[in-house]
Amino acid sequence: MGYDAKFRIWRGDTDAGELKDYTVVANDGEVVLDILHRLQATQTPDLAVRWNCKAGKCGSCSAEVNGRPKLLCMTRMSTFTEDEVITVTPMRTFPVIRDLVTDVSFNYAKAREIQSFTPPEGLKPGEYRMKQVDVARSQEFRKCIECFLCQNTCHVVRDHEENKEVFAGPRYLMRIAELDMHPLDVAERPDTAQSEHGLGLCNITKCCSDVCPENIKITDNALIPMKERVVDRKYDPLVWLGNKLFRR
Ligand code: SF4
Ligand code: F3S
Ligand code: FES
Repeated sequence: MGYDAKFRIWRGDTDAGELKDYTVVANDGEVVLDILHRLQATQTPDLAVRWNCKAGKCGSCSAEVNGRPKLLCMTRMSTFTEDEVITVTPMRTFPVIRDLVTDVSFNYAKAREIQSFTPPEGLKPGEYRMKQVDVARSQEFRKCIECFLCQNTCHVVRDHEENKEVFAGPRYLMRIAELDMHPLDVAERPDTAQSEHGLGLCNITKCCSDVCPENIKITDNALIPMKERVVDRKYDPLVWLGNKLFRR
């Protein structure tokens, strides 16, 4: 059975915007993205919303629903009451382009700052051998669909534009941790995560893990282990002695 759903949607562009109210039919089994598509088809053909797969796998349709970071295509209408006003706004951490579409290029810039996989010199293709247990350890992180909901949620940048320069964000700190766990990677990862990518700014609030649609345990399985490695290296007496001797 259909009913008249009430929506409040942020409309605007880089200069200004406002919340506008709409009433639109919702049917059984629909998700928020279905309603936005119906709005485009019937009332607001110029409503901008980014999407691609409508299956929770491309990471394109990220926005905020009632103030909570969500994939629009995975947010079921059945999770709201029929008389509830559902507010849809763009991700707050990134600059708005138009309506619900934000400029997420910050994330691509951060990705480019990370040193790529670095195998030992002279290792030829075909000589790369890993045990299944090593593969399994970082496999969880490969589920990332790059929706950037974790990046949008982390308070280090959500309320502090000035931190964007020095903080890679949970998605890319997780990428560094993934490379660090790779048995064939020889780059120095934990110390550069700390000194160049802002690992120290993370105070393990775990909000990133809470919003991840792939349920990746970003904080517990990537960020905390990397923080522990930084501390281990700092207080390991042999590492300390080595630093003293070779820094001169
Ligand atoms: Fe999205 Fe999770 Fe990847 Fe973050 S780690 S970008 S929340 S899928
Ligand atoms: Fe931010 Fe996640 Fe750390 S939300 S503070 S990166 S635990
Ligand atoms: Fe692909 Fe929502 S449209 S994740």
